[in-house]
Amino acid sequence: MKRSFGSKLKVASVVGARPQFIKAAPVSRALRRVAHEVLIHTGQHYDHGLSAVFFEELNIPPPDYHLGVGSGSHGWQTGQMLIRLEETLLIERPDWVLVYGDTNSTLAGALAAVKLHIPVAHVEAGLRSFNRRMPEEPNRVLTDHVSDLLFCPTQTAVDNLHREGICRGVHLVGDVMYDAVLDHLALAERQSDILTRLGLEPGGYALATVHRPANTDDPTRLQGILTALTQMEWPVIFPVHPRTRQRMAEFGLDLGRAGQNPRLIDPVGYLDMLILEKHARLILTDSGGVQKEAFFLAVPCVTLREETEWVETVEAGWNRLVSCDPASILQAARQFRPSGTPPPLFGDGRAAERIASLLAG
Ligand code: UD1
Ligand code: UDP
Repeated sequence: MKRSFGSKLKVASVVGARPQFIKAAPVSRALRRVAHEVLIHTGQHYDHGLSAVFFEELNIPPPDYHLGVGSGSHGWQTGQMLIRLEETLLIERPDWVLVYGDTNSTLAGALAAVKLHIPVAHVEAGLRSFNRRMPEEPNRVLTDHVSDLLFCPTQTAVDNLHREGICRGVHLVGDVMYDAVLDHLALAERQSDILTRLGLEPGGYALATVHRPANTDDPTRLQGILTALTQMEWPVIFPVHPRTRQRMAEFGLDLGRAGQNPRLIDPVGYLDMLILEKHARLILTDSGGVQKEAFFLAVPCVTLREETEWVETVEAGWNRLVSCDPASILQAARQFRPSGTPPPLFGDGRAAERIASLLAG
């Protein structure tokens, strides 16, 4: 099915949350060579440091539509997105709707499209944690089951889809976050002065991020993680996600006094983040994207979760899963020293190009 905009295919891309802007950057660049892209921002993330900074730094074209949905419960947020996305798609009538990852913006985009009989393409298809209590898991499963084109970053993702009976439209393209790192690392090295600003030596600190509800919304787990970071023997730089900042305040977990570990900072832009990651001696995280970037940059990663979608990083020996009690985290942080270099398991940096050409048909 090809409707025309001039002679070009029309693709509506739906983004809304921090990792989706990063994934969209290389894809949008490749897509605009072969198609007319309409970029729709749901407004799921709206702070400058979680949204606009990525458009500026990664040179993403400004959204054609900003739906301004904002924060709320899962049902309210997804429902508002669905209503506003449907209105937008009825105006634009694209040939494809392209969604990314596993957030509420992903599910809303896929659902709005499929109900309007617009084909859906899913970037980062086939990822599974097999934990349905994780809000992203139903978003992934449901999105994959209504998608016509499924762009998988890894063979594991392809296998997961096959096990669920999804075989048509499945393509192993590589990981667009790897493309993004390759595209921006040299720029980050030229432009970021984050190590100087924070007074850090390369290899002399650990980097931590925590934002998964399973960790932030459970006071015992959050306290366990923070206690471990407090007791780490190296400085720990901790860019704090707003969800985590809120829960710390609610639970009375008062950290971040001057000179103490961990060192709490606001979320940083992508270029600063790449530099912080690259020069960390260790990364502690529950983020999907940060686990992968640690692997791409050959930095040992301790994942503050019981399972991961990125099993290859664990199997290759560069990622270790820990349960969130202070002793386990500290033991893993002290003992985990992978050797060699991580194998090239996430493609060749041309995933975005493949996605664009598959969409163009
Ligand atoms: C969302 C995604 C998660 C992704 C993460 C990336 C879902 C279900 N979750 O989680 O998959 O890993 O984004 O960071 O889609 N807030 C602000 N400013 C903002 C955005 C949010 O202060 O710009 C606060 C609000 O209080 C909000 C809370 O953070 O309630 C959580 O935001 P939300 O987008 O609902 O979920 P995330 O935890 O960010
Ligand atoms: N990131 C960033 N600044 C930060 C924290 C993360 O630029 O302060 C980037 C990180 O480099 C990665 C992406 O955000 O590219 C990961 O997003 P997040 O951890 O919010 O979500 P997830 O990947 O877990 O869905």
